[in-house]
Amino acid sequence: MSETIYDVPSAWSDKAWANDARYQEMYAASIKDPEKFWGEHGKRIDWFKPYTRVKNTSFEPGKVSIKWYEDGTTNVAHNCVDRHLAKRGDQTAIIWEGDNPAESKVITYRELHAEVCKFANVLKAHGVEKGDRVTIYLPMIPEAAYAMLACARIGAVHSVVFGGFSPDSLASRIEDSDSKIVVTADEGLRGGRTVPLKKNVDSANDKVKGGIGTVIVVRRTGGNVAMQAGRDVWYHDEAAKVSADCPAVEMNAEDPLFLLYTSGSTGKPKGVLHTTAGYLVYTAITHQYVFDYHDGDIYWCTADVGWVTGHSYILYGPLANGATTLMFEGIPTYPSISRFWEVIDKHKVNTFYTAPTAIRSLMGAGEEPVKKTSRASLRLLGSVGEPINPEAWEWYHRVVGDRRCPIVDTWWQTETGGILITPLPGATRLKPGSATRPFFGIRPEILDAEGKVLEGACEGNLVIADSWPGQMRTVYGDHQRFMDTYFATYANKYFTGDGSRRDADGYYWITGRVDDVINVSGHRMGTAEVESALVAHPSVSEAAVVGYPHDIKGQGIYAYVTLMTGESPSEDLRKELVAYVRNEIGPIASPDLIQFAPGLPKTRSGKIMRRILRKIAEDEFGALGDTSTLADPAVVDDLIENRQNKR
Ligand code: PRX
Repeated sequence: MSETIYDVPSAWSDKAWANDARYQEMYAASIKDPEKFWGEHGKRIDWFKPYTRVKNTSFEPGKVSIKWYEDGTTNVAHNCVDRHLAKRGDQTAIIWEGDNPAESKVITYRELHAEVCKFANVLKAHGVEKGDRVTIYLPMIPEAAYAMLACARIGAVHSVVFGGFSPDSLASRIEDSDSKIVVTADEGLRGGRTVPLKKNVDSANDKVKGGIGTVIVVRRTGGNVAMQAGRDVWYHDEAAKVSADCPAVEMNAEDPLFLLYTSGSTGKPKGVLHTTAGYLVYTAITHQYVFDYHDGDIYWCTADVGWVTGHSYILYGPLANGATTLMFEGIPTYPSISRFWEVIDKHKVNTFYTAPTAIRSLMGAGEEPVKKTSRASLRLLGSVGEPINPEAWEWYHRVVGDRRCPIVDTWWQTETGGILITPLPGATRLKPGSATRPFFGIRPEILDAEGKVLEGACEGNLVIADSWPGQMRTVYGDHQRFMDTYFATYANKYFTGDGSRRDADGYYWITGRVDDVINVSGHRMGTAEVESALVAHPSVSEAAVVGYPHDIKGQGIYAYVTLMTGESPSEDLRKELVAYVRNEIGPIASPDLIQFAPGLPKTRSGKIMRRILRKIAEDEFGALGDTSTLADPAVVDDLIENRQNKR
């Protein structure tokens, strides 16, 4: 917790879209009359047929239903591309910076239009129709943007799967979304190393019931890949056959735009469904106000398009606003640890949006790799994905931003579609470590375990009391699960799964997840997923996974494993289990620490007491609380004695 307060620089309050008075006024108006506020802001996008109804939402138990602008029709690709052509056809839409610093290119809005149309025509030529799901498993190359916008253009629903996920994870997402078509690349390229994307799709194919219908392969590295006749086609061959013109299909405001799988506390990842108009309005307005976007700004969000941040703030929000958005294929440390700052200088980036984990890892190398670059173009910094500790915040502010650039610490989730709690750079005094105040239209509340709304300064569970246009609409194919996950904990409120403190100034301080979700380097992971990967190994009898504080990743993955009778713990087995989980889920799920345990602490009814495991992993075994209800209290002593060293 930090007591420091940074005032809004006057240059910012003078020129920003919102100073504090304006924020207060707009916020009050948005809460007092959401219909009116969102009715006006819906006009920031083009409509084929204007809406007459703005908000039709209910969080009522058993009847959750969320609709915005429900009788309007529009098209997201039209709004992100076509409508800019008259005024900014020759303006850069996307700056692409390759993994290799010698490779970069710019794509104007006119070029983007042609590329999106071609991609859309290729999809159509392969039978994709409105409403069909298309899985996209691509690296950070412009074709990822073309493919997503192409889906939007023809009304197909994209499901982007992060390139770091394993064939198994990919297969279950293809199957759950029932995608007949997968778009991939021969290989990805990150930090000078190739990622075998096409090969992973081939392996996934064997795990998908009935196999994948069509695989469209973009050539990225030129690496040698096997193409299966009748199923696999090269994108460049297909693109050469189609026209660069494709009409944007008229979509209802509530037609699905995309699915994005995310981890929860139970079961397999769920397909978060976002729809067309509300999502676009919300990502556009937040991109404008939170990043104080003005024409001509060069904006860079370092996320991968495989995550929601990439969807909302590399692609849809910025392009809806006619911005220039930078897309980076590589990693912060290649070819040197100065890469981020070199890219900022190379492309004269004004706004830079990244994750705390990147800041913390770069901090470790000291100031010199930053200070040797100019960064004179930078005006604003952003943070997303996990709580930013005040020390990292201060370093980001002082070293990267030369004390000149405000930091917007943006709190949101895959489910929320866009940013919900955040400073506005011209309006909000900053406190390092606090996401500060709600965005327009957002009604956060803090509740205690019984569901009582807490007032004033307090700490508890964070809920949102009313809908906003960017909110997810359902879990794909399972509306009941949507209601159970988000609306059953507290009646009539959206439960975020996060804890938060609110201070006397009304500022929110997100304290992290209160459920069995952990946040590793800004990547969200369900402990249950890692557990089921571990128990799938023949030597493992039981596994329990918890998070523990990690200096760079924010949280690390700590796994307690009991072995089958006859198996004995060894370093080799430990390594094998780590490799096994990587293979099952992907590298982001690799356990950092594995403790072999003869038994896990269980209640007499057999429930694993995760609270105890969490405390031991956090080295807080003085605070284990009551262990007398355990079936065998002695297991705890063994767990403490053999706990894994964090350093
Ligand atoms: O715990 C919160 C954390 O990330 C979770 C959402 O993860 P995901 O759906 O993958 O989306 C990440 C990018 C929006 C939240 O429940 N989180 C995200 N941003 C912040 C954060 N925690 C603290 N501060 C943030 N700024």
